[in-house]
Amino acid sequence: MCGIVGYVGKKQALEVVVAGLRRMEYRGYDSAGIAVISGGHLEVRKKAGKLVNLQTLLGSDPLPNSTTGIGHTRWATHGGPTDSNAHPHVSEDGTVAVIHNGIIENFAELRGELTAAGVTLTSETDTEVVAHLLAKTLPAAGNDLVAAMRQVCGRLEGAFTLVAIDPRQPDLVVGARRNSPLVVGVGVGENFLASDVSAFVDHTRNALELGQDQIVVLTAASIRVMDFAGNPVEARPFTIDWDASAVEKGGHDLFMLKEIAEQPKAVADALLGRVGNDGRIQLDEMGLDDQALRDIDKVVVVACGTAAHAGMVAKYAIEHWTRIPVEMELASEFRYRDPIVNARSLVIAISQSGETMDTLMALRHAKDQGAKTLAICNTVGSSIPREADAVIYTYAGPEIAVASTKAFLTQIIAAYLVGLYLAQVREVMPGEDIAAVLADLADMPGKVDLVLDTVEPVRALAREFAGAPSVLFIGRHVGFPVALEGALKLKELAYMHAEGFAAGELKHGPIALIEDGVPVVVIVPSPAGRAILHDKIISNIQEVRARGARIIAIAEEGDEKINDYADHVIRVPVVPPLMAPLVATVPLQVFACEMATAKGHDVDQPRNLAKSVTVE
Ligand code: F6R
Repeated sequence: MCGIVGYVGKKQALEVVVAGLRRMEYRGYDSAGIAVISGGHLEVRKKAGKLVNLQTLLGSDPLPNSTTGIGHTRWATHGGPTDSNAHPHVSEDGTVAVIHNGIIENFAELRGELTAAGVTLTSETDTEVVAHLLAKTLPAAGNDLVAAMRQVCGRLEGAFTLVAIDPRQPDLVVGARRNSPLVVGVGVGENFLASDVSAFVDHTRNALELGQDQIVVLTAASIRVMDFAGNPVEARPFTIDWDASAVEKGGHDLFMLKEIAEQPKAVADALLGRVGNDGRIQLDEMGLDDQALRDIDKVVVVACGTAAHAGMVAKYAIEHWTRIPVEMELASEFRYRDPIVNARSLVIAISQSGETMDTLMALRHAKDQGAKTLAICNTVGSSIPREADAVIYTYAGPEIAVASTKAFLTQIIAAYLVGLYLAQVREVMPGEDIAAVLADLADMPGKVDLVLDTVEPVRALAREFAGAPSVLFIGRHVGFPVALEGALKLKELAYMHAEGFAAGELKHGPIALIEDGVPVVVIVPSPAGRAILHDKIISNIQEVRARGARIIAIAEEGDEKINDYADHVIRVPVVPPLMAPLVATVPLQVFACEMATAKGHDVDQPRNLAKSVTVE
């Protein structure tokens, strides 16, 4: 949430920062702003709304030449999306400009202190207090921005990434981080700071991870990292293993369409190198020893949103393969309810961004209880994998559209690999059965490709139902989390009432929602899998159809029986039951994307949302 960019070097800071903000806009788009140092003073431009509004302002009120600058794109927390609440915030005396991602929890107290000292605050944000605190601290800190930042950070509670500049030290950009993301881009004669590497991948693929409670000081020629006490810290370098084209639309109209289309490759990449020549799963990178995995007596998955749906899918598979009890818990609930986890629990945190605060806090709570922790994550170097005992990366490549697509499929793949690995080390599944599942997984890129070839009718249906007041989704077994995911996609993109239900649960209340013409999307289990599930869902279809529902069935090729019960049938390839979410989800993504487009919504940046939710 909130995108941050900082630059110092030889290029025009304006260009580097605005290009970086364009890449960061997926993190928040309530306002955008930029500050540069020129001629010994700060120049700031900021504007409510999307980045394009700032660019228009810059057209009429250009910034002077400068090689040091910071920029911010905001997802509002304290104070509405107005010009005055936009970042950067500048101290009353004009000496320091600050941008911030996170929430400063003791801001009211600090604001009171500043007001009592006669400072006039001009915004409703928590961030502005930092600008004034820095300005007040600077004289006693010998006008050294680094020393002032260290002192001010010591007074802040909550989560923050802060980046500040001061025209008296025009070649310096100072960043600080606690619980919010910040990475360093290492250039030649220039250096970068950003919420994630996509902001600077055009300029360098060399980066540094920053840890908790660290400060980074950039000049064009140097990078210093220290803790809040000022002790030097060695930052871990890493190389970005994709290039700038991965964060461009690549001929697609929308990032979401591009990311939907990338799913066969993403699934293939998630599987790459995970099976050895001997046919055994190798998750060497994971770093949990096999004995620890033999000793666990339960698995708890913590995640949010789409990642939680992937966790729900994984629960069905991991329990089936390993016979270890698996709990799936929304990360935001986990630590506040005194969960029973201990040294014999494996807590798996699933997160695309690796920065979701709810998930990070759940992970920390699990660690505090002595649990073994494993991250399933897409973003190398982010907080969740850094803090977990072990990590499996999903290798989906950057996901820019706010609505998650390829991350979901690859999270399922990674969680399945973990489940099969547990079965392998605990010797609870014959080797040939594991090999058979791995062969099924290996087929999935091709199957997802087939789905993509046949989604045109889905688009037509989405346009047909765009005027519906609500859409319900039902499924059984792994089709249930798919139903939840289909409904989530529709809510967040088409802004319409949509709900997912376990099909059997409908008659216990939600069936009262059914009235004439209500579209119900049914994730139909394979008749060749567990036939009983197919029979049961047909009964559920009849229950809602009898009350006027219009049925859109997502059913596998060859399931002719469904034709008698559905108004529309979307076909997906035949796959084993546990693989069904990997194909059945894709038409639902397309359905939501097309419906949002038909309604004229901004698909990649839906209202009120941000990717990477770094506040609790
Ligand atoms: C929905 C969506 C969100 C995320 C959730 C967790 O399309 O993208 O529900 O899945 O905010 O995000 P990560 O996976 O980054 O932890």
